[in-house]
Amino acid sequence: MSTKRGNWNSKLGFILAASGSAIGLGNIVFFSSNAYQYGGGAFYLPYFIALFVLGLPIMMVEFGIGTLTGKSFPLALRELAGKRAEFVGWWSIGSAMFITAYYIAILGWAFGMMVGAFGSLFEPGISAPFTPFETPTDSPSAMVYFFNLLATWWPVLFIFVIWGLNLLILRKGASSIEKAVRIFVPLMWVFMIGLVIRGLTLDGGFDGVMYLFTPDFEGISDASVWRGAFSQMFFSLSLGLGTMTAYASYLPRDADQVNNSMLVSFLNCSFEFIAGIAIFSLLFVFTLNPAGSTLSLSFFVIPQGINELSTIPWITRLFGFLFFFLIVIAGITSSISLIEGPASAMMDKLKITRKKALTIVAIPCAIGSVLCTLPIIIDKGLAGNGTLGLSILDITDHWVFSYSLLIVGLVESLAIGWILGADKLRMALNQHSKWNLGKWFNTLIKFVIPIVLLTVILSSLWNERT
Ligand code: PFF
Repeated sequence: MSTKRGNWNSKLGFILAASGSAIGLGNIVFFSSNAYQYGGGAFYLPYFIALFVLGLPIMMVEFGIGTLTGKSFPLALRELAGKRAEFVGWWSIGSAMFITAYYIAILGWAFGMMVGAFGSLFEPGISAPFTPFETPTDSPSAMVYFFNLLATWWPVLFIFVIWGLNLLILRKGASSIEKAVRIFVPLMWVFMIGLVIRGLTLDGGFDGVMYLFTPDFEGISDASVWRGAFSQMFFSLSLGLGTMTAYASYLPRDADQVNNSMLVSFLNCSFEFIAGIAIFSLLFVFTLNPAGSTLSLSFFVIPQGINELSTIPWITRLFGFLFFFLIVIAGITSSISLIEGPASAMMDKLKITRKKALTIVAIPCAIGSVLCTLPIIIDKGLAGNGTLGLSILDITDHWVFSYSLLIVGLVESLAIGWILGADKLRMALNQHSKWNLGKWFNTLIKFVIPIVLLTVILSSLWNERT
């Protein structure tokens, strides 16, 4: 492996970084909202099928091609499956840049909420008073605060803060990433476990857990539940965007990628579950209704629940701060990986320094982040009705989340399955693994995954018409 590209100092460093990439807004913000929208218990069967049929095998592919070639996604695909496959790699890098832009915009807002926990920093001077985390449930304080925040230029500043932190962590590649994830990843586990314990020890907290886990077989016949579960799984495991391949390319070639994939998926899904428990217990204890868009759950419904955790203001403020701090650090360990995928691809392809590659990626993406949040661009007509309807962000999110990742997954499985040959990859993975992947792996990569993904994509397109 080329030393110029950098290495992880330890296997633990890689696992922390890859699981840090997987655990992010998807686990805290999107999962609960999807699980609620798709009827709690109805979500699980599709979710687990998505994990075993799609998520885990594709992660093995993405890790596998990274360590096999020691290259980032586009060039790794080119080496293994030819020039045309490289195009898919660049498509996914482009998608990663779109996602980075809005992902960091959301992190900027979360940062704003975190700062808001300290008191009246902003005084936006618009109609509603600024009263975060202090007033009772019936006052929509967090929502009012949030929309006031969006009507100011503060989010632009916060976006730059988040970008600054990302670039700082990425400046030396694997070694500086490893330093950051060694602190951030354990910390977010501790905070999340703390939230779960608080949620479950509240009177009635367990009802939320029951709602979340009681199977609902009726909901399963709804195609949208399946589409939701498959897209969620792809996004949550950071697949289809070149991230996992870039991270895996900094590992020695004899790394056990079957084991690593299982470990990272397990950590990701466990975090997702406990985040679901924490959030659903709050929702049920305080009979909160997370109707509205995906983001409204975390940005104003949960804060409402936090307001009620205690009558002592410093405790509610502390929980409010910790909740958004958790979102920010979990998000940053993901956004660095979103940026690292494109940056490492540019470094490999253009043979440029890390600094130049980071600049090329950061400038358009940071402009995109600002565009997602500018007060003049946010569709004011949609604000204030309890939902978050932010045009640019919503449109990008919809197309990239529902289609782009899945299309990459589809073409990637076809390229690896049919051009390289699934069996070749299987042998290579088995060579360094204590687990032995059977022939079923080939069937999954060559037939099952492409058919499933094609069905999901076509059914989403069909649904678009109505
Ligand atoms: N997995 C991250 C999350 O759940 O928030 C998001 C993500 C990061 C997706 C990196 C894709 C990626 F390449």
